[in-house]
Amino acid sequence: MAFDTAPNFDLADRTVLVVGGAGYVGSVMVPLLLDAGASVRVLDQFVYDNGFALAPLLDDSRVTLHRGDLRDAEVFARAATGATDVVMLASLVGDPVCKKYPELAQQVNADATKRIVDSLDDLGVARFVFTSTCSNYGIHDAASLADEDSELNPQSLYARTKIEVEEHLLARSASTDASTTVLRIATAYGLSPRMRFDLTVSQFAWEIASGADLLVFDADTWRPYCHIRDIAKAVLTVLTSAPEKVRGEVFNVGDTTQCFTKRMIVEEVCKHVPDAQVSYREGDTDPRNYRVSFAKITERLGFTVDHTVQDYLASLTAAVQAGVFPDVAGNHRYGNYEVQHLDPSA
Ligand SMILES: NC(=O)c1ccc[n+]([C@@H]2O[C@H](COP(=O)([O-])OP(=O)(O)OC[C@H]3O[C@@H](n4cnc5c(N)ncnc54)[C@H](O)[C@@H]3O)[C@@H](O)[C@H]2O)c1
Repeated sequence: MAFDTAPNFDLADRTVLVVGGAGYVGSVMVPLLLDAGASVRVLDQFVYDNGFALAPLLDDSRVTLHRGDLRDAEVFARAATGATDVVMLASLVGDPVCKKYPELAQQVNADATKRIVDSLDDLGVARFVFTSTCSNYGIHDAASLADEDSELNPQSLYARTKIEVEEHLLARSASTDASTTVLRIATAYGLSPRMRFDLTVSQFAWEIASGADLLVFDADTWRPYCHIRDIAKAVLTVLTSAPEKVRGEVFNVGDTTQCFTKRMIVEEVCKHVPDAQVSYREGDTDPRNYRVSFAKITERLGFTVDHTVQDYLASLTAAVQAGVFPDVAGNHRYGNYEVQHLDPSA
């Protein structure tokens, strides 16, 4: 797997620990880190029985797998000792799963992640990239673009836990040896070994292309979207940028042209599935509505995206129609529906 506009990332002599490396984003990022010359460790508890996503990588001698729970400080220290860089992807990702398991979400996403931030200097980690979310903007006047300095307006526990870590990390960034960076990432799309069909673009495309009746709530709410390979590219960009450009900084990750309403996404899917069955309802189930500026990461780090929602929808609808995903309905592996292997009282 290579970048479309191959930037010259050089991570030779670096050992990158990807916490959550078996997930939707992680299982695409790990091979790209290997391509860039890094050795990679993965710490993951396979919360959705998703360890299979790493299978093609595990006979590469540069990959070391640590199965474990990031809430256990000893487990984290074993995985991180000797790593030059840590990319923090693991958390309970998304509003629904955090709402369903609120104590676990607080423990994993906020409490344990803040302890990890506090341990970086003792463990000798040089760089730490924290993946946060544009959901932190919550509701923002869609006539203007939210940027990194805009007021945050979280609408969910998920966003509140991410903001708690952001604030902790930014408050400490001037006094730590480790260079720490926050990435506020747009809603992800793209094909991954650990596929998720609980995210808007892929969910709409799968439902419509597999012949289901799609019911869309609040069709005119805006959100930005970013391909998982572009998310990985943003992380590699941060890891290979001069530390003074990224230390203590927040960057939105995405592209301003890739902000869409749900209705616009449905209309794009319908170009590939003309007999689509779609109905709309105002439900106020998800009040998030925001358009985002991604100018800072382009201007400061030269980052641009390689992918578009439009191209992806053509690929995904064709894949669904060809029968690539026959077993999605009711299958907990295809989304963050049911948490396994995490003891809430641990
Ligand atoms: N997917 C999106 O739309 C999106 C958008 C913006 C930001 N992000 C951020 O990107 C990151 C990755 O998201 P994703 O979509 O790949 O999520 P994911 O749920 O697919 O992956 C998370 C991984 O973390 C692991 N994990 C969870 N709790 C753990 C624990 N206690 N110990 C060890 N491992 C644990 C899971 O097993 C899983 O492999 C997250 O930080 C998320 O907030 C994602």
